[in-house]
Amino acid sequence: MSATTAASAAYIVAALLFVLSLAGLSRHETAKAGNAYGIAGMAVALVATIGLAARDGDALSIGLIAVAMVIGAAIGIWRARIVEMTGMPELIALLHSFVGLAAVLVGWNGYLSVEGAPAGEAEVLDLPVGIHSAEVAIGVFIGAVTFTGSVVAYLKLSGRIRSNPLVLPGKNALNLGALAAFAVLTVVFVVSPGLGVLAGLTALALALGWHLVASIGGGDMPVVVSMLNSYSGWAAAASGFLLDNDLLIVTGALVGSSGAYLSYIMCQAMNRSFLSVIAGGFGNEGATAASGDVDGEHTETTAEEVAQLLRDADSVVITPGYGMAVAHAQNAVAELTRTLTDKGVLVRFGIHPVAGRLPGHMNVLLAEAKVPYDVVLEMDEINDDLAKTSVVLVIGANDTVNPAAAEDPASPIAGMPVLHVWEAEHVVVFKRSMSTGYAGVQNPLFFRENTRMLFGDARERVEDILRAL
Ligand code: TAP
Repeated sequence: MSATTAASAAYIVAALLFVLSLAGLSRHETAKAGNAYGIAGMAVALVATIGLAARDGDALSIGLIAVAMVIGAAIGIWRARIVEMTGMPELIALLHSFVGLAAVLVGWNGYLSVEGAPAGEAEVLDLPVGIHSAEVAIGVFIGAVTFTGSVVAYLKLSGRIRSNPLVLPGKNALNLGALAAFAVLTVVFVVSPGLGVLAGLTALALALGWHLVASIGGGDMPVVVSMLNSYSGWAAAASGFLLDNDLLIVTGALVGSSGAYLSYIMCQAMNRSFLSVIAGGFGNEGATAASGDVDGEHTETTAEEVAQLLRDADSVVITPGYGMAVAHAQNAVAELTRTLTDKGVLVRFGIHPVAGRLPGHMNVLLAEAKVPYDVVLEMDEINDDLAKTSVVLVIGANDTVNPAAAEDPASPIAGMPVLHVWEAEHVVVFKRSMSTGYAGVQNPLFFRENTRMLFGDARERVEDILRAL
């Protein structure tokens, strides 16, 4: 069997392992197996690719690949070990930016070794040069949009730049104009592949990626992250065409389509138009004025008073959010759940689809703390029961329980479905201050008559309640 046939067979095995990995990652119970399939698939793919390179390449190229892999693996292992669960979204955004940058470099390399190579030194192609030029233009464009878009997402998610949407005059016309210019430049590049045209196309795509993500408000960032995940898949697939690597095409398409589907599901969950979000907040102009002028009197409470409220309660719903992750309060919350359940109180959880900072964030933390799956309900499963609930404990959640989303059409998060916690008999909000949540919008829940604020670190406050109980 030739090396090429062996590599093709290995690529098919790797692609199947990637499909199994995606299937496994879709459920808690099978997520670990899904991860293992993914690792195995990547190992098979690496061995096959390096085997092919060893057959074709010289000792220097193999040495360079080995050095790059060792450095990359060392950085990857180090980052994976130190990253906090709360830092995952920005790490993911940064990783997407690398895929985008790699696609730009692969595209430029394709150009420099074919269309831009000195006469007589160009690589021999088994396809018309025009098709290769189109592949270069499309690969560079998708890669560059992914690169700057992901860098902006990283900066926003890590709080290095403000998460409010950038509103340039005529921003939709700018985006549409950039797309039209891309189409024109691609045609020009196919007809006459010059360095200047490719440089212009790259600069245009870099600016478009930056603008698309900068225009999106904090509340819509979860969709942006999964959308960039999808773009990074398409960028990888584009590189696969240029490198003539079938596995990269298949894997890129898997990532691209699953990311697109996840973005679609998240848009539905947040009542956002999919097209509006991928077009950089198209049509959102009316909702950008932050309704930060909500004001009123809030009432503070103590851990002892909350313990008394819980003793008297028939049913309790806990709605965790990003603050529970920051405070590492999940184990204390699990302990509180057990204590109350032992006292005969019905305790359930209400999980908003974008609570925390990444899809499934709260579910992962609660599973880690051994909270039984059957008391962890989705927002739609619990919302109707909240009006019949004695006490809701809002633990480090803010945007996901904001009544303004349901009641104030001028709010930047208007229309986003939220947990109707304010309908319960009593609401206790655990947070450290009166500051806003991720979307930067003030929360009228804090000023409602049936709401009590329990200030401080969520883990310490839950432990205080446990002691008082
Ligand atoms: P947020 O609206 O982000 O609010 C978190 C709250 O936790 C803050 O108000 C903060 O108030 C409090 N907090 C922080 N540290 C705390 C601590 N140690 N102890 C107690 N409280 C603490 O949370 P959410 O309701 O989960 O909403 C998630 C937001 O993130 C949404 O806007 C969503 O769109 C966005 N987002 C989600 C994702 C995904 S996929 N889930 C990804 C990116 C962005 P203090 O500072 O006053 O304590």
